[in-house]
Amino acid sequence: MTEAVEGAALDLKGQVAVVTGANSGVGKSAAELLARAGAGVTLVCRSRERGEPALADVRQAGAATGADVRLELADLSLQADVRTLADRLAARFRAIDILVNNAGVWLHRREITSEGFEVTFATNHLGHFLLTHRLLAPLAAGRGRIVNVSSEAHRNGDLRRAALEPIVRGDAWKGGFQAYGDTKLANALFTFESVRRWGARGITANAMHPGVLRTRIWRKNRSALGLLLHAARGLMAKPEVGGRAVMRLVADPARDAVTGRYFKVEDEVAATAQAYDADLARELWDRSLEWTGVTRSEGANGPGQPQ
Ligand SMILES: NC(=O)c1ccc[n+]([C@@H]2O[C@H](COP(=O)([O-])OP(=O)(O)OC[C@H]3O[C@@H](n4cnc5c(N)ncnc54)[C@H](OP(=O)(O)O)[C@@H]3O)[C@@H](O)[C@H]2O)c1
Repeated sequence: MTEAVEGAALDLKGQVAVVTGANSGVGKSAAELLARAGAGVTLVCRSRERGEPALADVRQAGAATGADVRLELADLSLQADVRTLADRLAARFRAIDILVNNAGVWLHRREITSEGFEVTFATNHLGHFLLTHRLLAPLAAGRGRIVNVSSEAHRNGDLRRAALEPIVRGDAWKGGFQAYGDTKLANALFTFESVRRWGARGITANAMHPGVLRTRIWRKNRSALGLLLHAARGLMAKPEVGGRAVMRLVADPARDAVTGRYFKVEDEVAATAQAYDADLARELWDRSLEWTGVTRSEGANGPGQPQ
C-alpha cells in the first residue's frame, strides 16, 4: 500500500467517518488512520470504560490534523440502542462520508439478547443492518462509502442449512464457529444486496476480511479452538494490517468507485458462491427488515425499487 493511503499524506479533512467497535483491534486502527488523515471520526463503543482510552488515543493520532474525534456508546446487539445511536448521529451529521461496520463477536456458547435474537447474529448482522438503514439519508448526502468487515470464515457460513428464522433466533444453533461464519456470510450478502438497492444513490459498499490478526476477538471465545487461537496470537499479524486495508477502501482514490466487491485484506478475491445467491440475499434483506422493524420511510428501498 502506498505511503499516502497509510494516512500520512492523505487528506480527508472535512469528511465524517463512523467506526463501530472502535475501541480495539481493526476498528481502533482504522479510526486512528482516519483521524490522522483529518477525518472527523465517531467511535462507536459499547463500554465507556474501554471507549474513553480509545478516544484519547484516536484524538492523539488526529492531533496534527485537528480531527474532531468523538465517542458514542451503544450495544450493537440491542436494536433499541442502535436506534438511539442512529438518531444521535443523524441529528449531528447532515452528511456521512464513511461508515465502517466493524464491531463483531465470536462466541463459544449460544446466547440470546433481551430482544430475542442470537447474540452473534444480533451484533454482527442485525445491528449493522439497522444502523446502516437509519443512516441512509446522511450517507446519501455524503460520500457514502461503506465497509462491512466480514471474514474468510464466511466460507464456512451456510444460511441454507436451515430456515433463516431459527438461525437468527438461535434455535438452529450448531456451535459458535458456525454462527460466526453464518453472520460473516450475512455481511457479504448484505453488502452485495445494498449495492443493488442503493447503488443509484451514489452509495458504495464493499465487504472485506481484515487478515488473521492479533486482536481481542480470540480472547473472548472459551472454546478449544478459541483458546488455541488465543495461544497462537503471537503468530498473527498486527491489527494495523486490517486498519490499513479498511483505510485503503475508503480513502484510496483508485478505489473510490469500487463497489460490491469482497477483499481479502487488500486484494480483491471472489467470496464464497452462496454470497452471490441473489435470492438468498433478497430473503435475508426482507427478513432483516422485519426483524429490525425498518420501514419504508426509513429508506429501505432504492429509488424506484419496490420492496
Ligand atoms: N482478528 C481477526 O483475525 C479477524 C479475522 C477476520 C475478521 N475479523 C473481524 O474484524 C472485526 C473486528 O474484530 P477484531 O478482530 O478487531 O476484534 P476485537 O479487538 O475484539 O474488536 C471487536 C470490537 O467489536 C466490539 N463489539 C463487540 N460486540 C459489540 C456490541 N454488542 N456492541 C458494540 N460493540 C461491540 C468490541 O467491543 P468490546 O471491546 O466492548 O468487546 C470491539 O470494539 C470483527 O467484525 C471480526 O469479525 C477479525
